[in-house]
Amino acid sequence: MRNKVSVIGSGFVGTMAAQRIAEKNLADVMLVDIIEGIPQGKALDISQSCPLQEFDVNIKGSNDFADIQGSHIVVVTAGFPRTPGMTREKLVLKNGTVVKSVTEKIREYAPGCIIIIVTNPLDVMAHLAWNISGFSESRVIGMGGVLDTARYKYFLAEELNVSIRDIDALVLGSHGETMVPIASCTTVKGVPVSQFMNKSRIDAVIERTKKGGAEIVRLLKSGSAWHAPSASIVVMVEAMLHDSRRVMPVSAYLRGEYGINDVHIGVPVKLGSSGIEEIYEIDITDEELSALRESAAAMKETYRKLKIL
Ligand code: 2OP
Repeated sequence: MRNKVSVIGSGFVGTMAAQRIAEKNLADVMLVDIIEGIPQGKALDISQSCPLQEFDVNIKGSNDFADIQGSHIVVVTAGFPRTPGMTREKLVLKNGTVVKSVTEKIREYAPGCIIIIVTNPLDVMAHLAWNISGFSESRVIGMGGVLDTARYKYFLAEELNVSIRDIDALVLGSHGETMVPIASCTTVKGVPVSQFMNKSRIDAVIERTKKGGAEIVRLLKSGSAWHAPSASIVVMVEAMLHDSRRVMPVSAYLRGEYGINDVHIGVPVKLGSSGIEEIYEIDITDEELSALRESAAAMKETYRKLKIL
């Protein structure tokens, strides 16, 4: 029997994620949206590329949440993107309403699935989905660190003019204003990046990474990024469906790790078939640790704004 992944929201991120999952033959895909015709039309279009891209999995579109039944993973991309100059955190009330109702449907129709939250502000939305679903914390995961780390690695490789394959790096904290690129864990072929760049060059890359999403929003003028976000989703989906136990930063529920409690925030984890199988508490500098704690505090503050829902 094939795996099944449902993607909620047939905007650019959701549709591209569905397409990437299909093209990698990872799972049958159910693309769900409340707008009539859009998920069906997009799924049909992707399906018609199967003789060319040579995939065997099925991709269908639906407006009915009952069609997510049997999903191993449900990816939530539904909601509003930010506009130029807007922070992700500003979307909290608008998207909180969307994520709340989507999670209620997931709880009803796919109670055994793993949820990946992509809707922004995604750390806060992951916390909301975890609360509403009643799922164990290993099964509600925010996609953030994978994308931020990819951007950081890309900017580093570009700045150093070396292959991206030789950069290893980690971005923790929120997928938002308080994200924390970890310079102390950044290496080029295993050698600390500080041997290749001075602090001010590293800081400039870190600043660009923190604004990596906003730079694209500003260029596009309407909507936000979808190529790298969808690729990040698929790396997570693949790690779980293949039980490959890859280590990557995701937004996870913390119970005291890093001195942080009761909040979803980006930390390094092992992803396997049951979702988050381990949270790693790695050594980072005091400065990075306090930035991570500040990021967690900011997420708690943003979450508090939701209580009026
Ligand atoms: C981004 O950073 C959409 O939050 C997403 O591009």
